[in-house]
Amino acid sequence: MTPLWKTAPPAVTAAPLEAGRRHDVVIVGAGLTGLATALELVRSGMDVAVVERGAVGELASGSNTGKISLLQGTTLSSLRRHHPESLVRAYVEANRDGFEWVTRAADELGVPTTERTAYTHAAGAEGVAAVTEEYRAAREAGLEVRLADADELASGPVRMVSAVALDRQRAIDPMSLLTALAAAFVAAGGRLHPHTAVTRVRVLPRPRVDTDAGPLFADRVVLATGTPILDRGLSFAKVSGMRSACVSFELEGEMPGGMYLSADSPTRSLRTVGPADGPTGRPQLIVGGAGHPVGRADSERAMLDELAAWARETFPVGAETHRWSAQDYTSHNLVPFIGAMPRSLGRVRFATGYAKWGLTNAPAAALRIASELRGEKMREKPTWMTVIGTRLTVPADLARGVAENAKIGAVAARGWAEALTRSTPVPRPAEGSGIVARSHGLPAGVSTVGGKTRAVSAVCPHLGGVLEWNDLECTWDCPLHASRFAPDGTRIEGPAATGLRRLG
Ligand SMILES: Cc1cc2nc3c(=O)[nH]c(=O)nc-3n(C[C@H](O)[C@H](O)[C@H](O)COP(=O)(O)OP(=O)(O)OC[C@H]3O[C@@H](n4cnc5c(N)ncnc54)[C@H](O)[C@@H]3O)c2cc1C
Ligand code: FES
Repeated sequence: MTPLWKTAPPAVTAAPLEAGRRHDVVIVGAGLTGLATALELVRSGMDVAVVERGAVGELASGSNTGKISLLQGTTLSSLRRHHPESLVRAYVEANRDGFEWVTRAADELGVPTTERTAYTHAAGAEGVAAVTEEYRAAREAGLEVRLADADELASGPVRMVSAVALDRQRAIDPMSLLTALAAAFVAAGGRLHPHTAVTRVRVLPRPRVDTDAGPLFADRVVLATGTPILDRGLSFAKVSGMRSACVSFELEGEMPGGMYLSADSPTRSLRTVGPADGPTGRPQLIVGGAGHPVGRADSERAMLDELAAWARETFPVGAETHRWSAQDYTSHNLVPFIGAMPRSLGRVRFATGYAKWGLTNAPAAALRIASELRGEKMREKPTWMTVIGTRLTVPADLARGVAENAKIGAVAARGWAEALTRSTPVPRPAEGSGIVARSHGLPAGVSTVGGKTRAVSAVCPHLGGVLEWNDLECTWDCPLHASRFAPDGTRIEGPAATGLRRLG
């Protein structure tokens, strides 16, 4: 389950964490949001530290499909259905600035990119109306999209009955980008602390970031952790964690060079990787899909097997080279969720809700957070920063939020009921399997991975969701707000601040 991009550990210079040290800004998370914010701030002369639980690009930022595009599936039409034209236009402008930031950074730091046409296509009749709607919403928002002509539609093994296209977008190896950003941050005087988990963030009496290597102090803290790890303002209840998977293959025939996302379901994402924008120097194809809410799939493995089988039947591919999976968050009003954490006296900022389009949304969020932390005046900022930054809640958002939270309530109740019907001891689970059963009146998770059987509490330490076994990645996943844990209970990601209690 290692992404194609992670051929070697990122070559970055880590600094030893000096417990008790004070910085202007401490950023939690070395994904694209964290590193872009860090580079902006350190280049403005601030003293900045980045603390990362894993390696640079540990989660979504190092595991995506590397499409830098302003045409983003059916995002603009979905936004337009719920928001005024001005907001969709502001979303496009934010992403345009994000696109410029990230491509300029790549060019400046010598990270190769390739220019591609992005397509949102209908693979069958079902998607045609959605393609037309996306075309209209994109044109209305000022994006220079066009409808693909007959030659383009018939040009390759990608089945397209209609498509909206946007030229001059880019493809990148996201790990090369992140490694270069991290190196530039360190070269500019920033301190990078990978493999250091943040266990708590406190605002009073002064901002303090507790880590497993000791505390750091700061004037301001930025939570660039995917979903925020601080519950103030119930941000975890305003986003949904969506997981998807990718599989890459050696390419044995011709494929057109576009970047494709289907408008019909199941949603499928395609891009080729070539010597100029990939790590291996060989032509490859990445196929993405198997999207589902975290912890709510019957079998993640079966979903990925089905995706891989479809790719093998449809495209001129040879050996499968990599399989991987990652998650990103979608806000209930579909607009990225960026700003000051409620009740933090403006001392804690966060950004999430990019709905799998973070390569442009994350740098846009970084620009906005950096502008705020530099204290720039309203008139100095692009207008999108005030439009996208304002938390808009319209009745439709409330309805979507209520519907999602009602679903979460039902999932929570079902999880507890099912867990309590089976009692321990349970038979030793087969290799790669996990079972939830009752132990001393509470759900326990028993799994066998690498020949080792372990038992942990199956109750999520965030808000008590009963965990589900993810048979693809061998993890315990929470169906409520998307926290994930290793078989030994170690926290991997999500709003839970701690790991699972070990039972044996
Ligand atoms: C399968 C998939 C494909 C995608 N493809 C594309 C694409 O082609 N184009 C595009 O634009 N977007 C794409 N995206 C979306 C994009 O990858 C994300 O939106 C973006 O990477 C999010 O960046 P981030 O920095 O906010 O979060 P992340 O990359 O998740 O970074 C958060 C970081 O915080 C760290 N962290 C969390 N908790 C702690 C803690 N307690 N202590 C210390 N560190 C902590 C994590 O380890 C992690 O490194 C895709 C997403 C997925 C899932
Ligand atoms: S992530 Fe909220 S209960 Fe598990």
